Amino acid sequence: MLSEQSVQIIKSTVPVLEVHGVAITKRFYELLFGAHPELLHIFNHANQKQGRQQTALANAVYAAALHIENLAAILPAVKQIAHKHRSLGVKPEHYPIVGTYLLKAIKEVLGDAATEDILNAWAEAYGIIADAFIGVEAEMYDRAHAQAGGWEGFRAFRIGRKVRESDVITSFYLVPEDGGAIAGFEPGQYVSVKIDIPGDSHTHIRQYSLSDSPGKPYYRISVKREDAAQDRPAGKVSTYLQEYAGEGSVIRLSAPAGDFVLNRTDDRPVVLISGGVGLTPMVSMLNALAEKHPHRPVTFIHAAQNGGVHAMKRQVDELAGKQPQLSVYYCYGQPTAADRERQSFHKEGYVDLPWLKSVIAQPDAGYYFCGPLPFMRTVRRALREWGIPESDVHFEFFGPAASLETA
Ligand code: HEM
Repeated sequence: MLSEQSVQIIKSTVPVLEVHGVAITKRFYELLFGAHPELLHIFNHANQKQGRQQTALANAVYAAALHIENLAAILPAVKQIAHKHRSLGVKPEHYPIVGTYLLKAIKEVLGDAATEDILNAWAEAYGIIADAFIGVEAEMYDRAHAQAGGWEGFRAFRIGRKVRESDVITSFYLVPEDGGAIAGFEPGQYVSVKIDIPGDSHTHIRQYSLSDSPGKPYYRISVKREDAAQDRPAGKVSTYLQEYAGEGSVIRLSAPAGDFVLNRTDDRPVVLISGGVGLTPMVSMLNALAEKHPHRPVTFIHAAQNGGVHAMKRQVDELAGKQPQLSVYYCYGQPTAADRERQSFHKEGYVDLPWLKSVIAQPDAGYYFCGPLPFMRTVRRALREWGIPESDVHFEFFGPAASLETA
């Protein structure tokens, strides 16, 4: 328990730290990686460079600090981060290290304003927040390990099959090297993939949604090629997987994780809305629904730039041909002449509320969506405007969680 005085200090200094949030976390990472370069094997360097992780961590610590007297109130957010931490292999012994350098960074950036009382209060608060994370993560580690086919840490998987799904997306069918069973998962969950890239002194870890339903002897991930753009270099792991890893190559995976999952007990209709590579968890959900809940009405809506980059179309269309309760709609941003000729899409331009209203026949449903940030903002706003209850709306970010309203 924090003393009343410390609670007051924390609450009054959160706004100050928020003002300096990015400077503090930027300095924090410099200090952290300077003293513990081994942690560079866990963190995503691209997120670091773009400052996205800095903001995510800063926001999470300040949000937690504001609820320091009742951390249970932010348990869903803690769980979401804890899933990511568990999947990456963050351990209890890492927390004091992070705490030490966070405190050092606060002290450096605030200078004289960081009195001893302030620093002590934050050290105490950090300890409480860290304990909450450690507790939630310990349960997750136990569960991942105890589950049939489960494992701890990273396990070697061989690429059994590599299948091109579109001009930019390729699927990898992954089977365990040890020939053992693999853990079940909930449709919507992801795995962390750990890669050693020849000539690169760091290992790299990325999360990819599982793109097929559970219960198969393999895990499938579907990876988008991330070419270099003006503001970012080409994706290291995605390029390695797409260009260099072939059938027979071995990569390492941690057990499935994530709290963006299909509610299988709700038997109302389901609406799955995806943009681009955001379709991967949706196809997992779609396949699971078709296999286990074939009578549940499903509307599958997918937005892509054009037919060339539209992945898994044939699989989804074939399923729709077999399942009368499944309705499929495609929205292309810039259809090609061939797309028009084949009539392979239903709407041109962007997903919007009038169109969603026109294709979703049963709006009293569970809604799941995933895609690029602008797409997600649009869908979120549209569902709100339509009056869909928040409790029926579920979404997943690829990359550090950000706010749909502000990010
Ligand atoms: C990711 C918060 C401690 C390593 C994250 C994210 C948040 C966060 C908000 C982004 C989650 C997302 O992607 O959706 C916190 C808080 C901590 C804490 C509040 C302390 C109370 C730690 C520790 C480590 C760690 C001790 C290990 C050294 C990571 C890594 C990621 C991550 C590697 C993924 C970031 C990336 O590379 O993209 N954390 N974290 N965190 N955290 Fe923590």
